[in-house]
Amino acid sequence: MYRETYYDFCAPAYRRYLEPMVSPLLDLLLSSLHLSSEDRVLDICTGTGLVLEKLRLRFPNTYFLVGIDISLPMLKQAQTRTLPHNEISLVRMEAEQLALTSNHFSLVTMHMALHHLKVKKALGEILRVLRPGGMLAIQVFDPIRNRAREYSLIDKLFYLLCERAQKYFTLNPSTQLQTVRQQHHQKEADTKDHQPPNKPPNSNFQPQTLQVLAQEVGFSQVNCSSLTAQISFPDVEAIFHYHINQLPYYQKEFAEMPAEKKARFLSALAANVKKHCQNIQGAFVQNYPLTQLFAYK
Ligand SMILES: C[S@@+](CC[C@H](N)C(=O)[O-])C[C@H]1O[C@@H](n2cnc3c(N)ncnc32)[C@H](O)[C@@H]1O
Repeated sequence: MYRETYYDFCAPAYRRYLEPMVSPLLDLLLSSLHLSSEDRVLDICTGTGLVLEKLRLRFPNTYFLVGIDISLPMLKQAQTRTLPHNEISLVRMEAEQLALTSNHFSLVTMHMALHHLKVKKALGEILRVLRPGGMLAIQVFDPIRNRAREYSLIDKLFYLLCERAQKYFTLNPSTQLQTVRQQHHQKEADTKDHQPPNKPPNSNFQPQTLQVLAQEVGFSQVNCSSLTAQISFPDVEAIFHYHINQLPYYQKEFAEMPAEKKARFLSALAANVKKHCQNIQGAFVQNYPLTQLFAYK
């Protein structure tokens, strides 16, 4: 039976609004990779296919590319990319249960997805499908270091936009996000007569334990590091549009806000941006703490 996910709801929005943000971060990971025509690449949680497209452009001679994802709507977005389809396979599959041959791939990539998975199980499956000497390359937001800046900004948006979220404001950020999303999906389900997704994103994984976990699973030469990427916005309005446009229901909530509340919201956001973003030569710079992991079979 098809199990709906959070991403089924936001697949078109992901392509339109989140990819521009994720794309420069992804380049940081891909700049460390080298591929030849012999390589076989598996991209886990491929989503809208951004990683595969970028790999294909960077390494035009690499012909064997497979992308898997649990969400059909995300994979449908991937199918619409201008890629030669006979060279790229897209398959709906769970990362924790790969229906793929053992010892097959020379590289497995996973971008911005580890926090959705049962980490140990997924790492075990990746190790199984990698060929001996094959490499795993992971990049993900660091949920711990992120919390201070990024989450506080997004939480502020949630807090101000969705009054019903206020009672959850004392919980940890990931719980807040889950709760608000669940409520949103429940509302959608009520009107659209379908079931809400049963697997919203979570941020339970601890980057500090990732290196140990990968070693325990059986990877060697495990190198887990922290880095911080920066995205620069010309003004507060640009930050507002960047965050508010990420998901359509933010836009709807904002559009329906009374004028007085809108004004309060924007001034609170401006104060929050000043608190959490660096101001460098008149631009607002937001830090994105990331975790990268490279490991070998
Ligand atoms: C934030 S998106 C990242 C997409 C892509 N890697 C990128 O960087 O643009 C996370 C993806 O993980 C997928 N996903 C979540 N849980 C999954 C699971 N258990 N197995 C496979 N895919 C999963 C979602 O459907 C979604 O497409």
